[in-house]
Amino acid sequence: METIPKVNQLEATPATPAVSAVIRVEDAHKYYELGETRVHALRGVSIEIHRGEFVAIMGASGSGKSTFMNILGCLDRLTSGRYLLEGIDVSKHDKKALALIRNEKIGFVFQGFNLLARTTALENTELPTLYAKIDKTERRKRAADALRMVGLAERAQHFPSQMSGGQQQRVAIARALVNRPSILLADEPTGNLDSRTSVEIMEIFQNLNDKGLTIVLVTHEHDIAQFAKRVLVFRDGKIRKDDPVLSRPKASEVLKTLPTLED
Ligand SMILES: Nc1ncnc2c1ncn2[C@@H]1O[C@H](COP(=O)(O)OP(=O)(O)OP(=O)(O)O)[C@@H](O)[C@H]1O
Ligand SMILES: [Mg+2]
Repeated sequence: METIPKVNQLEATPATPAVSAVIRVEDAHKYYELGETRVHALRGVSIEIHRGEFVAIMGASGSGKSTFMNILGCLDRLTSGRYLLEGIDVSKHDKKALALIRNEKIGFVFQGFNLLARTTALENTELPTLYAKIDKTERRKRAADALRMVGLAERAQHFPSQMSGGQQQRVAIARALVNRPSILLADEPTGNLDSRTSVEIMEIFQNLNDKGLTIVLVTHEHDIAQFAKRVLVFRDGKIRKDDPVLSRPKASEVLKTLPTLED
């Protein structure tokens, strides 16, 4: 049995987040209240993630991966512990303040794409800019830029039903990038995709990461995790492993070895 460090033990240490730590989590605990029962979903998670890192999170179902991602993405709050996002302690922020910071700093990609059906790729990508204080021309330009970054410039006027799963996921990535976030969070982004399309998504992530974007990705697949630079393994609400990826494949090279649809 490991002992869970007491919260005030860590709070007693002075907060000196390194400037480059985009994410700093200190002794994070999360409980969900379900009627009479309490689920202890995060049980003392502490970690730093620096600018330019590319982290993959693995672990069994129910181990706390999505709970952790929702915290990182400011979609939910910790029960105890601290979360510093670019040096700002957001753990005490209320929902409104969290929404503001999320819109400014975080891009989120989900397994199910979550695109609006009757809305073109360009308009879907543009959605998050509606909250930003920029004019319509600039919005369009940013959305078009983001679509170009994921290789979908020529699909701007397509509706989700007119695109493949991989293309829809690329629109979702463009939408996540459109406000130029400092972190991209992706919870099983390849969960609904075939293996070649999954590697194509990883190629996009590697390209974005090469340009300096910090990425945290959840995956069940060991092969997908290897495209990251660092792999965390969650178990029972704790980080059980934290290892660098030693021989990282380049997704663009792997793609050359995989059959295409035409083959
Ligand atoms: N909204 C919620 N209310 C109550 N319990 C929850 C809620 N969300 C998650 N849990 C519980 O918290 C624990 C962690 O769940 P979480 O979704 O973080 O797991 P996960 O690692 O993402 O699993 P998966 O690989 O299946 O997506 C589980 O025991 C789950 O049942
Ligand atoms: Mg999950």
